[in-house]
Amino acid sequence: MRRRNSKNTVVFLIVIAVVALIGWYLIYAFEGPIRSSLLRLEAGNIASADNLLRVLRLILLAILAYVAVRALNYLIFGLFQLRKGFDAPTLIKNVFSIVAFTLLFFLIFSFIFPNANLGALFTTSAIFGVILGLALQDTLGNFFAGISLQADRPFQVGDVVSVGDQKHTGVIEEISWRAIKIRTFQNHVVLINNSTAAKEPIEVCPRDNLNARLVFFNTLYTDSPAKTIHIVREAVREADNVSQKIPPIVRIKNLGDNGVDYEVKYWLEDYAKYNDTDALVRQRIWYAFKRNGLGFAFPTRTLHIERPNAHARDRDGGAVVERLSAVDLFAPLSADETTMLAGAAERHVFAPGELVIRAGDPGESMFVVHHGRVSVQISDNGRPRTIATLNEGDFFGEMALFTGEPRTANVVAVQETEVLEIGHRAMKKVFDTNPDLVESLSVIMAERRAGLESKFDSGPSTEIESAGILSAIKRFFGIS
Ligand code: CMP
Repeated sequence: MRRRNSKNTVVFLIVIAVVALIGWYLIYAFEGPIRSSLLRLEAGNIASADNLLRVLRLILLAILAYVAVRALNYLIFGLFQLRKGFDAPTLIKNVFSIVAFTLLFFLIFSFIFPNANLGALFTTSAIFGVILGLALQDTLGNFFAGISLQADRPFQVGDVVSVGDQKHTGVIEEISWRAIKIRTFQNHVVLINNSTAAKEPIEVCPRDNLNARLVFFNTLYTDSPAKTIHIVREAVREADNVSQKIPPIVRIKNLGDNGVDYEVKYWLEDYAKYNDTDALVRQRIWYAFKRNGLGFAFPTRTLHIERPNAHARDRDGGAVVERLSAVDLFAPLSADETTMLAGAAERHVFAPGELVIRAGDPGESMFVVHHGRVSVQISDNGRPRTIATLNEGDFFGEMALFTGEPRTANVVAVQETEVLEIGHRAMKKVFDTNPDLVESLSVIMAERRAGLESKFDSGPSTEIESAGILSAIKRFFGIS
């Protein structure tokens, strides 16, 4: 849109320059006939006919001067943008155009009317001064306020600002000779006069600065502050747009009526997206609370008695047994063994995009996807690359658990995902009674390892690996 506008302007400037040049040529070529027709009109008054001709010339030259100033403006500020990499402020461009045009106009005027005393014309014309002063009072106020804002440079295009009592908040789009243009977060445009802005308090969050935000939450009095602070800090630092340069700060703000009030202070990469990031931070806190058994406080004046519904609990436990018995790996287990495994499994919920397993961490448990979906990712030149997607009933995390080595990949929730976590001790019990399980597990692990290694174009064949993994598992669990 902007490009089309500037193209139209260039065409317009060329057209008026051509028209002015043609006009100039016509006056030059037909000066005699024009003068005699003017004389006829002015009833023989030579001076007045001459002046009319001069005024015509003055207008044409003024048009050419205007075009020349615009061209010079493009050239100088185009070069400035090329060299500095950013556009010069609109105010500076406008001041340049006004000064250059005024100087040129005075030059042309004294060239065409050599006998006119311009200084006297302006200084003696008191009425002219009063009219001009009154008419331009606001404009000049804005203009000079704009100059002082440019000189101070308290903010720049791209900064987030909050102006005045009405708290107009948004991103600065333009600072012109008249006003500051702000685009609010509701995508409205607010124009604030420079003279108003110069008087109002302005809160500036510069674009190239690490700006912080505060988000508030609370917990029950029974929840440990140390645990809460650790869990919330870890959950918040992983959210998108939260700066990695400064770790978030979580602290108790108040011991409130209903619970412990906290605030989390975090720094943003891009402050203009603070609404979305605040929301994401709150979402991450909710999921972290849910996974770690923390609770939000709510008004305790209401007596809230919750009796766990025994029937619902059975139904829930039944769903876990059903899920585990549908996992291929556990197919050989008896019903009792599957129920034991289900009893030992812990359920965790993860938000979309959250890490379930981090590559390189030690691993003491494996997981079964109960609801949702996860992706297995490795780092490819610093960028995450998905090598497998696992759905409901698939398992992961077995490699570190059964070999004692660090986690081989990141596992990330693709959508809200509930996993069943099974620990070392429960698996050992299962292996003790089902030694054959080790063999089928080692085949699956070898296939996965081959999948991992093929991404790096190396690695031995699956059979050799499978044998190696089998003995590693046996050694790790002390199975003969
Ligand atoms: P672990 O190494 O404990 O943690 C990362 C997990 O990602 C790993 O166990 C496997 O469960 C899983 N994983 C690694 N490679 C693959 C693969 N090629 N296909 C499916 N899952 C894999």
